[in-house]
Amino acid sequence: MKDLAGTNIAVIGSTMMDLTVYADILPAAGETRFGDSFTTGFGGKGANQAVMAARTGAKVTMITGIGRDGFGDESLQNFKDCQMDTTSVLRLETHTGVAHIWVDGQGQNRISIVPGANFALTPQDAIDEVGKLKNVSVLIAQCEIPQEVTLAAFRTAQELGITTILNPAPYQPLTDDLLELTDWLIPNEIEFAELDHSHRAPDSDEIIASLRAKGRTIVTLGGEGAALVTLDGKVKRFSAKKVSAVDTTGAGDCFIGAFAAALASGASEDSAVQFGIDCATKSVMRKGAQSSYPNLNEMDFSLIVK
Ligand code: RIB
Repeated sequence: MKDLAGTNIAVIGSTMMDLTVYADILPAAGETRFGDSFTTGFGGKGANQAVMAARTGAKVTMITGIGRDGFGDESLQNFKDCQMDTTSVLRLETHTGVAHIWVDGQGQNRISIVPGANFALTPQDAIDEVGKLKNVSVLIAQCEIPQEVTLAAFRTAQELGITTILNPAPYQPLTDDLLELTDWLIPNEIEFAELDHSHRAPDSDEIIASLRAKGRTIVTLGGEGAALVTLDGKVKRFSAKKVSAVDTTGAGDCFIGAFAAALASGASEDSAVQFGIDCATKSVMRKGAQSSYPNLNEMDFSLIVK
């Protein structure tokens, strides 16, 4: 296999422009410090996941809101350059979302987002745009758009027989209705602890397996890989290669985009998880979110078994 051409997936979610400062030591409150470098890059959890999925060769429909401003123009062009279907990219009467990001000397990030057009999407937009999808088998969403929009999208997806993946990031309390409509829930360690009824970290198989009574779960564990709750309720662990990370921004999004595309292509869930981890591991060795994602010739498609 050379790519995932012929696979169709959709993402409903955020688009942001990432304004990133790299600094060995980040300033404390009230302090001013020199940073090392600055970049402007394409981001937003939804856009990141969509772009990673598109890099595999899958056809990706992006449902998102952007402003009628320069960042909006650039973001739209970026989606087109990534060969994505942009007919559901809506231009709205506010600014494009922005993310202010600080990355420290260990590659760890802190992110503050101002959602702008992402929060101007409505449930009716979701119903209209998801309702138009043709031959799409997987729909991904996150928490950088209003939850009622994701709920409307997942309701429509369920009517169409589309598998839903929710990345609960950044963490927001999730309604039971949304969880009910979520086939795959994919939190990281921090989001897992927020979701757990006793706020436990995903420190044991027992805790991980107990998160949901219904529906599938994967917990992403950073450099430790990921844990998948199997259909019979057991926990299967997948490891990541040890690498030296320069920037972990968007690594979780990279995992989800690659995992979703592989799953939609008919790959086994185990190999889709391993493919996601492999792509995300590559991404942390480069700076930025989308700018760090592997190209087609860097992806190991031999990891995907149907
Ligand atoms: O997950 C990383 C992303 O979170 C960044 O690209 C930023 O835009 C924020 O949405």
